Amino acid sequence: MKIISVLSRKGGVGKTLLSVGLAQVLGELGHRVALLDRDPEGSAMGWQHGAQATETLLPYRVIGPIEAAQLGDVDFLIVDTPPNDTRVLQDTARQSHVLLIPLLPGAGEMDRLQETVQALSKAELQDDVKLGFVLNRLEHDNVSGAMRPALEELGYPVVAQIRKAVDYQRAFGNLIPAPLTAPFRDALKELEVIA
Ligand SMILES: Nc1ncnc2c1ncn2[C@@H]1O[C@H](COP(=O)(O)OP(=O)(O)O)[C@@H](O)[C@H]1O
Ligand SMILES: [Mg+2]
Repeated sequence: MKIISVLSRKGGVGKTLLSVGLAQVLGELGHRVALLDRDPEGSAMGWQHGAQATETLLPYRVIGPIEAAQLGDVDFLIVDTPPNDTRVLQDTARQSHVLLIPLLPGAGEMDRLQETVQALSKAELQDDVKLGFVLNRLEHDNVSGAMRPALEELGYPVVAQIRKAVDYQRAFGNLIPAPLTAPFRDALKELEVIA
């Protein structure tokens, strides 16, 4: 089983969207996927409840920490995490093979990102862990000039870009429409999770 976690000290950056997007893409490829919701806010759980209410079949199941103890056979475990909880962030990161950090464009976003990277540097990560940034809610093709060098300095690649689209918001409790799933595939390809 491969564990892919989505982390950030900051809320509202797209952790849950990225988590369900990755789960959907892997599920649609035929893998057995569970999405562990470690955020007490339960947004990923809410996504699944929304799907159940409309009898939408998601290609993955969402589980809470209690069910995680009896996970059963899965190929991928995606972990959605809360903001502002360094302990859960580090605990999740330690167990993960792949780490993805979503962030919003803009130089002002770098402070919180540094907190995230710092927390990770203090966690004991797996030797061969793969880590990448995902830029979310892009409104232009070009990321601000100041941001790219600042990101490069942190030493991890930007593995995908997600544009700002109201259809991502509308997808809550549903499947993400096929034309909007490319960035999730990109992230998985860049980190060599899928071919
Ligand atoms: N690329 C995007 N375009 C439009 N809305 C987005 C995008 N990414 C996230 N959102 C919306 O922003 C809000 C926060 O995203 P979410 O994934 O819940 O962030 P987090 O889990 O980091 O708190 C949600 O309402 C979500 O639908
Ligand atoms: Mg969330």
